Amino acid sequence: MSVPVIAIDGPSASGKGTVASRVAAALGFHYLESGALYRLVALAGGDAPERVAASMDVEFLNRKILLNKHDVTDYLRNEAIGDQASEIAKLPAVRAALLGRQRGFRQPPGLVADGRDMGTVVFPDAVLKVFLTASVATRAQRRHKQLNDKGKHATLAALSSALEERDKRDAARAVAPLKPAADAVSLDSSDLTVDEVVDQVLNKYRERMVR
Ligand code: C5P
Repeated sequence: MSVPVIAIDGPSASGKGTVASRVAAALGFHYLESGALYRLVALAGGDAPERVAASMDVEFLNRKILLNKHDVTDYLRNEAIGDQASEIAKLPAVRAALLGRQRGFRQPPGLVADGRDMGTVVFPDAVLKVFLTASVATRAQRRHKQLNDKGKHATLAALSSALEERDKRDAARAVAPLKPAADAVSLDSSDLTVDEVVDQVLNKYRERMVR
């Protein structure tokens, strides 16, 4: 039997990362935050992003991400890096270079992967594909709170328009656009707590496994 994958895709700030890492912890599975790879390529810079994507030295530790042995965890979450990542993510050569790396995370006993194309391109045979959404207002508020907690400030209006712009770019690109897989389960987290979303994903996974 192949190693089971749970794919969680969705727009920016939909809560994918929090939900995916909690589901992974509950099941004792590995966790892949694929957006971090695109962010790392953006952070590494240089004028040949596809070469960087293929050759960068990345380590995902418990709570830290190392790029070429440097702890870059705090820089990665930057909104500007997210925007650059989304520009770089349009390039087919970058996506191709990251494909093998992403699939390499599929190790026993299982993997929970979050991103934009986990269910459509990277793990099309995932046993469960969730498309996690939330209203723009909810997502902007969550981002606002995250930034505030870190002592950074941005207005809700600016955050909403930046999120919408990034989603539009991610959904409009030619290669691996942001869209639910045909066999994905859609989940709107706007009015749910993190615990409720995690429970729903775990229940759906367990339903699939007993079939
Ligand atoms: O998920 P996160 O916001 O960290 O991703 C940053 C950017 O990386 C996204 O806006 C998207 O353009 C790109 N990305 C992608 N495919 C993925 C994950 C992220 O294109 N699987």
